[in-house]
Amino acid sequence: MTKNNPFCEITPELEHLSELSAKCSVIDPELYSKYDVKRGLRDINGKGVLVGLTEISDVCSTKIVDGVSQPADGELYYRGYNVKDIIAGIDENSHFGFEECTYLLLFGSLPTKDELKEFTNMLSKYRTLPTSFVRDIIMKAPSRDMMNTLARSVLTLYSYDDRADDISLPNVLRQCLQLISLFPLLSVYGYQAYKHYHDGASLFIHPPKEEYSTAENILHILRADSKFTPLEAKLLDTALILHMEHGGGNNSTFTTHLVSSSGTDTYSAIAASLGSLKGPKHGGANIKVVKMFDDMKKQVKDWSNEDEIADYLTKLLHKEAFDHAGLIYGMGHAVYSLSDPRAVIFRSFVEKLSEEKGYEKEFKLYATVERLAPEIIAKERKIYKGVSPNVDFYSGFAYSMLGLPVELYTPIFAIARISGWSAHRLEEVAHSGKIMRPAYKNVGERKAYVPMEER
Ligand SMILES: CC(C)(COP(=O)(O)OP(=O)(O)OC[C@H]1O[C@@H](n2cnc3c(N)ncnc32)[C@H](O)[C@@H]1OP(=O)(O)O)[C@@H](O)C(=O)NCCC(=O)NCCS
Repeated sequence: MTKNNPFCEITPELEHLSELSAKCSVIDPELYSKYDVKRGLRDINGKGVLVGLTEISDVCSTKIVDGVSQPADGELYYRGYNVKDIIAGIDENSHFGFEECTYLLLFGSLPTKDELKEFTNMLSKYRTLPTSFVRDIIMKAPSRDMMNTLARSVLTLYSYDDRADDISLPNVLRQCLQLISLFPLLSVYGYQAYKHYHDGASLFIHPPKEEYSTAENILHILRADSKFTPLEAKLLDTALILHMEHGGGNNSTFTTHLVSSSGTDTYSAIAASLGSLKGPKHGGANIKVVKMFDDMKKQVKDWSNEDEIADYLTKLLHKEAFDHAGLIYGMGHAVYSLSDPRAVIFRSFVEKLSEEKGYEKEFKLYATVERLAPEIIAKERKIYKGVSPNVDFYSGFAYSMLGLPVELYTPIFAIARISGWSAHRLEEVAHSGKIMRPAYKNVGERKAYVPMEER
């Protein structure tokens, strides 16, 4: 669509109607306390309303001291294993950490060498799109947003599946494994189509290689010359592990549970989760972080001047800079308080890579923002549990050093998180059966209908 498309115009009538809509959408904040409604389904310490049970992962942000729960450094466990230990334990030369962890999440135990080999063979076998899918679907009307492309492709795969609505466990597992295998192709080919049709770039579609891991295949199909270094593949593999799972309550995984609980098909559930992950308060934050830093680099003349950086951060909170949303992207988390373990792990990798690639000055700027932002947010907002850098703070920077295009940052999150969504969908389908249906209390008045001529 062009910029002047009349279909997208905000007319005075729309402005007027939206004012009416805003006026009747205000709920007195006091009523939330009165009726004990947890805003954002969380209490002020970030603890979510308990809505389900899971064995897939555990997100920990507090510890008990003298019988009292206190904020603590964050920890993340996949099927009982600390992610920090998993990443440290994966063979230094292996780029199949994502596959190993996918097996762990889906089947509950660490795979043996043979099990992992069999599993990766299975994923390779499924990494084939239906005939002409690229030409007929991905190349048609390419969207400028790859998450939109991805969601449309997922919904379209429904029409190619003879058992699309079968929600028996083996069939749902098959669909999930196929989606795990196909997400890199759907995302990267969608990006190639966009670059070709929107920017006139040369079009190339590399088929995936059977012997490559997910991380290696992403780099192979993305780059015109298909070349990448082992360090690049290792970093991307680590990024995928850090993004693949985060409990049942995060917005997109909860969406998987919610939508799956209606008994719908895998494609509908996963497309809904993609829609959730696209949001800038969730997976879309990594793009925002990089764009915010691009803006900061232009506005802040001296990157070593902390006062100048602090002024810019304050302007962000006052909605006077960047996207005027009032947010410092990459900071804060719904659950974590003192630290997000994923950001801590990422930081050490990013620091190493920044030295190798000559990005030390940028890294210093990130480190200064990391230090100043929590204090500035605390001055301007009411903080209950503490704010620290989240996983997205460094992921965008890492991807830019890897030369990955910004358009693919959130899809890479999705390529990782589909493993978590799949594990949760299987858990929901296998054990639940009860449709989710929470309550909203009506706090509006009752009124008698007024005939048209009397209004
Ligand atoms: C993730 C996020 C939505 C969590 O918000 P939350 O659950 O309200 O977090 P907290 O309870 O700790 O926030 C306390 C206050 O600080 C504000 N705050 C938290 N992080 C903030 C940030 N990065 N920038 C500005 N304000 C922030 C919150 O809006 C809240 O103020 P409010 O009650 O007036 O709305 C929020 O931190 C955010 O929007 N961060 C930026 C986007 C981002 O990086 N998302 C990726 C998450 S992995």
